[in-house]
Amino acid sequence: MSERELLRTAADHAATYLEGLPERRVEADVEGTGMRATLGKDLPDLPTEPRRVLDDLVALADPGITAMVSPRYFGLVVGGTLPAALAADWLTSTWDQNALLARSTPAVAAIEEITGQWFLDVLKLPATASFAFVTGCQMAHVTALAAARHGVLARIGWNVEENGLIGAPPVRVIVGGERHVTIDRALRVLGLGVSCIKAVAVDANGAMNLNALEAELRRSDRPTIVCAQLGNVNTGAIDPIAGICEVAHAASAWVHVDGAFGLWAKASPAYRHLIEGSENADSWATDAHMVLNVPYDCGFAAVADRSAHEGSMKVRAPFFLQDEPIREPLDWTPESSRRARAIPAYAALRSLGRQGLAELVDRLFTCAERFASQLAALPRLEVLASDLNQVLIRAIDGDTVTDQLVNQIQKDGTCWMSPSTWQGHRCIRISVCNWRTTEKDVDRSIDAIASALTRL
Ligand SMILES: Cc1ncc(COP(=O)(O)O)c(C=O)c1O
Repeated sequence: MSERELLRTAADHAATYLEGLPERRVEADVEGTGMRATLGKDLPDLPTEPRRVLDDLVALADPGITAMVSPRYFGLVVGGTLPAALAADWLTSTWDQNALLARSTPAVAAIEEITGQWFLDVLKLPATASFAFVTGCQMAHVTALAAARHGVLARIGWNVEENGLIGAPPVRVIVGGERHVTIDRALRVLGLGVSCIKAVAVDANGAMNLNALEAELRRSDRPTIVCAQLGNVNTGAIDPIAGICEVAHAASAWVHVDGAFGLWAKASPAYRHLIEGSENADSWATDAHMVLNVPYDCGFAAVADRSAHEGSMKVRAPFFLQDEPIREPLDWTPESSRRARAIPAYAALRSLGRQGLAELVDRLFTCAERFASQLAALPRLEVLASDLNQVLIRAIDGDTVTDQLVNQIQKDGTCWMSPSTWQGHRCIRISVCNWRTTEKDVDRSIDAIASALTRL
């Protein structure tokens, strides 16, 4: 079989999968141990024909594939894949460019530069900010907080890249009590350690309390980074970002924004007021594989102070070819050899345009609103919170029934939602993040939840 025929076969498998999505059970049929038994054979000594490898892979893996791109997958915060982004992702693998250096891949360097500017534009961030395409919001935190660490220590004369953190003036990182766990991991990776964290009080939905932040800022004048969150992973709660920037900057602190999905509210004229003031922060971390519906993996970090960003990341080596004043992708990321992940992001944005992106954001948010209002009317169910694209529910009969309910919903297969714990209570998270999701999918899912409730 020729290479062209093999690729056609892969395309046919992919199209068959996507065409089956509307009626496919969302939960995988076979769990991990079953899949290991099926797939985990010994490595063969002899080669296998590529077509056979492909067909076997599809046949054997299929029962263990969760339909995360289904319009009724509402678990974690998982976007689907826009057609243009998926097709461009195939080409990204085909071209297999190492997105390290501008001179070695001029097209990718240009696409990354253009797409980064488009991101700054639609997210309403300063056009002069520097940026990096990384694997996800986790690595966007690592990247942006490395710049923050550089910035707050440079202000008091400490060069952290040169001298490290041993003997450095201690840095304080102020967060809301309900920040995402990836902030903690970024601080661990950066050597700041979680003991630098001062967690301040939050409201009932998990949004940072501004008075508590002000009180903590007054407590010390050491170098400080404030991490604000636009969209709590359980409730969707948005920290009061305009006020946070104001009080933090008055205290000479750096403001970093975790806007994994919430920052995309800025792309919608109808919703951008919800995060007004986020443009005044110093650094931002977000995902393209969530709201923008780009295939995994694609995160984005932006930093207002380009020199802090560059100072934390730039390296030079004789084999690095630079001889022109040009944006070098490797100057802004903690990675060296890397996938050209800006290509599918470029394709996604170009296929949507400003208007299509606004409509996508609006659809995700209005579908979440539909979930919240209709589920509130169901007996035995309580809607605990709803903001942006997130909805949090629980069974009023308590934790055990809530866990039984989410189990029933998952097993039924119509839709999929994640269990979680919120303020000591078991609950169920609904995250609407897929461009395919329509009101019909929401209504079908609500019917599935209602019937799961009757089975309890
Ligand atoms: C608020 C928030 N921040 C950070 C992350 C981490 O994102 P990623 O898994 O893409 O690294 C998530 C993931 O859901 C999130 O909801």
